Amino acid sequence: MRQALIIGNWKMNGNLAENDRLLATISTSYDSSNGIEIVVCPPSIYMDQVSRQLSQSKIKFGAQNVSAYKSGAFTGEVSTAMLHDFSCSYVLLGHSERRSLHHESDVEIADKFSAVVQAGITPVLCVGETLVQRQSEETFAVIAEQISKVVEQVGIKAFEHAVIAYEPVWAIGTGETATPEQAQIVHALIRRQLAEYDVTIANNIRIIYGGSVNANNAHSLFKQNDIDGGLVGGASLNADAFINICQAYN
Ligand code: 13P
Repeated sequence: MRQALIIGNWKMNGNLAENDRLLATISTSYDSSNGIEIVVCPPSIYMDQVSRQLSQSKIKFGAQNVSAYKSGAFTGEVSTAMLHDFSCSYVLLGHSERRSLHHESDVEIADKFSAVVQAGITPVLCVGETLVQRQSEETFAVIAEQISKVVEQVGIKAFEHAVIAYEPVWAIGTGETATPEQAQIVHALIRRQLAEYDVTIANNIRIIYGGSVNANNAHSLFKQNDIDGGLVGGASLNADAFINICQAYN
């Protein structure tokens, strides 16, 4: 049985006061009895604030990115050891905004994946196709390559505790969500691809969906067999919307 996972990706949003209010509301509303794992990913500058404020809560937190390197002359970067200092549990890797705006390659993403696993942190590998790629029926080829490049570089065993997030680029921040059926097809294909390497890992790995998830569409997405939760952007900045999405899992 895969535990449901809902991650809020705050992207480059928030400030001390807003974070304080958001965390206070979601941690008060968190119901540990429903078995859902909830994670927030703030900008790394707020990691200390988030770790303090969630210290008594079951809500976990993660980073939006990390360096593949341990330390040294990498201005502006944050290492896995630094994240570990704050008991950070997850790291998003290969988000489409990092791939497109920061030109992150599959090789760099795999290097980061490896560093994150070695640090005992859970990587969340983000994959997804653009609208042009979907329209030219390349969706699965694109995603299969994004996954196989990492598996071949780090080895399938490194995926034992990993998470995969399917985020169609055309659905991110656009208000246009993949239909539950469209998302389920891709999630099932990802699981089938992983099964070619290791059936147990494929069955156990959590594959979450991201791209304009909101309180109205969450339930029908989460009902799909291979959708184990959500990676939520915009709606995770609003406490009520985020709580409603978490409650939609049931
Ligand atoms: P939105 O939920 O705002 O579409 O963002 C999705 C996303 O990119 C989460 O990582």
